[in-house]
Amino acid sequence: MSDTKHILLGPFTQLAPMSKLPLKGPLSDDQLGLIESAGVLISKGYIEAVGDYKDIKKSMGSTPHEEILLTGNFVGLPGFIDCHTHICFAGSRAKDYAARNSGKTYLEIAGAGGGIWDTVRQTRQASEQELTRLTTSRATEHLSRGTTTIEVKSGYGLDPENELKMLSAIAKANETSPVDLIATCLAAHTIPKDRSLTSEDYLNEILNELLPEVKSRSLASRVDIFIEEGAFKPAESIAYVQKAKEMGFEITIHADQFSVGGSRVAVECGARSADHLEASTDQEIELLAQSDVIPVALPGASLGLGCGFTPARSMLDAGGSLAIASDHNPGSAPMGDLVFQAAVLGTMQQLSQAEVLAGITYRAAAALGLTDRGVLEKGKLADLCIYNVADLNEVLYHQGSLKPALVLKKGKIEIDLRMEAHV
Ligand code: NIG
Ligand code: FE
Repeated sequence: MSDTKHILLGPFTQLAPMSKLPLKGPLSDDQLGLIESAGVLISKGYIEAVGDYKDIKKSMGSTPHEEILLTGNFVGLPGFIDCHTHICFAGSRAKDYAARNSGKTYLEIAGAGGGIWDTVRQTRQASEQELTRLTTSRATEHLSRGTTTIEVKSGYGLDPENELKMLSAIAKANETSPVDLIATCLAAHTIPKDRSLTSEDYLNEILNELLPEVKSRSLASRVDIFIEEGAFKPAESIAYVQKAKEMGFEITIHADQFSVGGSRVAVECGARSADHLEASTDQEIELLAQSDVIPVALPGASLGLGCGFTPARSMLDAGGSLAIASDHNPGSAPMGDLVFQAAVLGTMQQLSQAEVLAGITYRAAAALGLTDRGVLEKGKLADLCIYNVADLNEVLYHQGSLKPALVLKKGKIEIDLRMEAHV
């Protein structure tokens, strides 16, 4: 398929453009603005037009174009955006899972030298090449489930050399994978246990040695910190993120996972997003709703740890936004299936189809500060996730077991299971 020609894609039984929806507050399914018998015109990786298939075809007249003809019933959505993952890691933490199910808590395991630190040990032993391979292979798996943009955090290096190795592996994986990988520096994931550093020493090391190098090598434009007992305290975190912000980084925060404090930091520093929020109370919900910070629910971590879900319904009802991400990581969320997890959150929190789908498309794009994707409209990237079904409701109803028949990234077909797909 040539890059220079127009491509007409369709007809779709239903197309959910996810456009013209508010960024904040509840969404009803009537607001989805589904287009029936829809077509999408693509040129050079971007959407040129969205509308009635026959009208677009007619408007093409004798202009040369290729066609991706959809015969049968197909529903189309923007490619999914997973705005919070840790898919660059080596090794397994299956033993943590077993220990948790035998009564130990996540924080107890971490306190005893396991948890994140265990993955740090395993990731430090892996070469950059191996980490690139592992990240690429996980991204490929996510692409087959319709995810076309993935945020990927560092945070299993915990010293300048190994954090740079991780970020460089993410950059290399991004070069070869069709999926866009958006890197975030999470060097402030926990305090390294191999050197006798205070949290203040370590945060200063990141600010003085690591972040200038990350910036000069353009390895990430985002900085994250885990605010929690056993990780970093709110007061030291605000000073850290404010300095990172002054250096030009966007901020995102691991907030309110087991105890509150992080979301307030996110609001005070003007972070793009506050992620986790399982422990948020009405006070934090209100604070976030009044701000421009996008709350991000991570149902995979609730399922992985067996704890409550982020109060997503209350966030939306209070007037806040809501993105949903997989948090795919070897500790709290090893499974990584975004559609499954988003569908389960929808069921548990009584979210409309529109709220869940917005959470993994355009509201997730906002959590990453990306304005070129997450909706299907003229000028946006031609990233699409297409199912061989007649009704949009089928997508979440199957809770992840329905796989896309076609996935397009920048107008190019990356997954095509049209012959195999059926309901
Ligand atoms: O988002 N909570 C902190 N960080 C990750 C887990 C990382 C790990 O356990 O390896 C999370 O859940
Ligand atoms: Fe996380």
